[in-house]
Amino acid sequence: MRVLSAIQASGRLHIGNYFGAIAQMLKYQDSGDLHVFIADYHALTTIKDAKELKQNTIDLACSYLSLGIDPNKSTFWVQSDVKEVLELYWILSSFTPMGLLERAHSYKDKVAKGISTNHALFSYPVLMAADILLYDTNIVPVGKDQIQHVEMTRDIAIKFNNLLGDTFVLPEFKIDDKVAVVPGIDGAKMSKSYKNTIDIFSSFKELKKQIGKIVTDSTPMDEPKDYNSCNIFKIAKLFLNEDELNELKRRYKTPGEGYGHFKAYLTDVIWEFFSKAREKREYYINHQDEVLKILDNGAKKAKKLAQKKMSIIREAVGIYR
Ligand code: ADP
Ligand code: TRP
Repeated sequence: MRVLSAIQASGRLHIGNYFGAIAQMLKYQDSGDLHVFIADYHALTTIKDAKELKQNTIDLACSYLSLGIDPNKSTFWVQSDVKEVLELYWILSSFTPMGLLERAHSYKDKVAKGISTNHALFSYPVLMAADILLYDTNIVPVGKDQIQHVEMTRDIAIKFNNLLGDTFVLPEFKIDDKVAVVPGIDGAKMSKSYKNTIDIFSSFKELKKQIGKIVTDSTPMDEPKDYNSCNIFKIAKLFLNEDELNELKRRYKTPGEGYGHFKAYLTDVIWEFFSKAREKREYYINHQDEVLKILDNGAKKAKKLAQKKMSIIREAVGIYR
């Protein structure tokens, strides 16, 4: 059972990325054939600064490794190290109806928000389909916002298979219902582009500042508070076990504490939750040669699979050699 996922190299990791994507990947690491890569070509749709893209790529590699991706159990590489994916992207483009791409929510959202678009942003799902189909992927663990992209991948694969014979494995998405959408500090979906994130690897001071901005109502200290509608509680829920959660509920119901207290508690909880990962990350940041070696090895393994698959695909479409 091949499991594949990726994260764009477009900025710092936030807790939405962790619970929506990374935690799920880790679940597969011991049981499945996990393939994970850093999507730097995809990040190019939004980042137009060479230094920033390179820095993000290596930073993300350090972060992934420190959060638990184990190169001995998984194949871990950078998307652009396997150029075959761009060849497949072009081939799949010829099997992708314009209407399919025009229906993509993420593209339509960007247009609606007035973000200046480009062709790569429009054809983004085709490159993602290439990422998935190149490696005969069975399962793609992602957050809710990526479901449509995996469905589009299936549509493209079905179209290809119908026209040219059974070539591609049809992938399935996998989401964790409990954390399908992690809310941001304003209660909307946490996302880099909404600037409402709580970052995993910020300093304690930054973490405190981000959590300090969580939007709450104005119930005074001496009144009981409704935890169900509270953004602090919704985020805290992700990190706490049942006993800790019950204790927090009790504190909400008991007059005497304000949202400031709950924010301070959440800051400590999150700081502690990622403390081991923070230490490991420090190590990798200071041993980048080691990180590059891990990525080289991963790329070699991924390239082997990609080359084998590409020769089957070239044969199927009639690319002459
Ligand atoms: P962003 O929206 O911040 O740009 P990405 O699009 O890079 O995040 O998402 C990377 C991965 O993390 C995807 O699998 C996505 O579904 C998941 N993810 C991102 N934000 C959230 C969230 N708020 N809740 C759950 N999963 C998320
Ligand atoms: N589009 C994904 C995201 O924004 C990243 C991604 C690129 C991906 N290629 C992929 C995810 C292939 C899963 C499989 O998060």
